[in-house]
Amino acid sequence: MVRILLSDHDEMNSMIIEMILRKAGYEVLSVAPEFCIGELKSSRFDLLLLGISSVHSEGMPIVEWIRSDASVADIKIILLASSTMKIDLTNAYRLGVLDFIRKPALPEVVTQKVRDALQKIRKDTILIADDDPGNLIAFTEILSICYSIRTAASGREAMDLIRQEVPDLLLLDLHMPGMDGFEVMEALSEIESARNLPVIVVTADDDVDTAAEIFQYGAMDYLTKPIVMQVAIQRIRRILELSHFQNELRDEIRQKNRDLLAANMRLQALSDQTIYALAGAIDAKDAYTNGHSRRVAQYSREIARRMGKGQYEQNEIYNVALLHDIGKIAIPNGIIDKPGKLTDEEYRIIKSHTVRGYEILKNITVMPLLYIGARWHHERYDGRGYPDGKKGQDIPEIARIISVADCYDAMSSDRSYREALPQRKVRSEIEEGLGTQFDPEIGRIMIAMIDDDRDYRMCHSVCFPHQES
Ligand SMILES: [Fe+2]
Repeated sequence: MVRILLSDHDEMNSMIIEMILRKAGYEVLSVAPEFCIGELKSSRFDLLLLGISSVHSEGMPIVEWIRSDASVADIKIILLASSTMKIDLTNAYRLGVLDFIRKPALPEVVTQKVRDALQKIRKDTILIADDDPGNLIAFTEILSICYSIRTAASGREAMDLIRQEVPDLLLLDLHMPGMDGFEVMEALSEIESARNLPVIVVTADDDVDTAAEIFQYGAMDYLTKPIVMQVAIQRIRRILELSHFQNELRDEIRQKNRDLLAANMRLQALSDQTIYALAGAIDAKDAYTNGHSRRVAQYSREIARRMGKGQYEQNEIYNVALLHDIGKIAIPNGIIDKPGKLTDEEYRIIKSHTVRGYEILKNITVMPLLYIGARWHHERYDGRGYPDGKKGQDIPEIARIISVADCYDAMSSDRSYREALPQRKVRSEIEEGLGTQFDPEIGRIMIAMIDDDRDYRMCHSVCFPHQES
């Protein structure tokens, strides 16, 4: 559990803050400031909330004592100060103070600032690139209290260091011999891991054009020389906070995208598995045509691939073709399995599987192609098909594809009343149907598939392994 030491002269304020922090789940020990160092020495704390009075605000002697005592010097500190108290920020940050809470503070302000401070246990790394040793020393001296500092005396050295490890922020002098600040920013955009590295430019050029150019090159802020350290520290803190916030946001978006993708994949798997189960139920109705739906789906997908359709569309067509005969579930087995010739009435009932399939699938509005395939896969290109007598391009393309694949499989598979037809016969039947039964373009693709299938592997013969005759 996170342990916080609270030390303030103001007893009432201490009580309130202690209550807020305990409610937020922290372990809090409240002591008077004179016992603060003793407590820090005797026990481990993650954070010190230290009240300062106006009398001591300038020098902050307790903070200085803490920092000068090696056994407690690394404790994180948030100062508690009254709303009107003037604080020497440069001195405070020099002493490693993380933040301030103005009294009286709202509970959410207290918990937020404590949470932020605890997240700063890992020190941010700032890379300072400046060819002026005086500037490097001045920045390092003030910033090293709160941050890990790396320095580079040139643009090239800065780039070498960034390639080794990307810092949390780059403080970049604009005018350097060799590679200047603009060139560094340009080079950064080519390093994938450094694309989001926040840059604060330091420059002596205090003119509008330079400022505009600095931002165009992707810097998040700039400081003009001579540097006012108090302002520089505030800007660096703000930019780091903003950068961390952006990183968290990016991480959150990435996580959300991953979650969404996983949910989509689960939904897709559910949808696919439901379709496979239904296709299995259709094929189980007729042992002789078992596997028909799957084969028609495979042929339809291959036709779609050869038509130049993308992976998504190919998969969609595969699923639609799997369910093209779903209406057969509603047809009595006695008619489906009948080995002999069907009566007119029986033929009418068999033909109704198209509309029955449509009725079953029409409410699946997220996949409207499903019912299209079921209803119109027995339409003919010349308009003499069923159930609606649609003609030519009025027949949805997906139904025209399934129609060819369906007829091909019917001819190339054993049936209850005959064995699979020879490949040459199947080919000539398809050829003969171009422009009458089948869309000629799609039919020609099927013929090309037959021609590529030299061993007649696209054949479903249970009892009679087929020989070309
Ligand atoms: Fe059918």
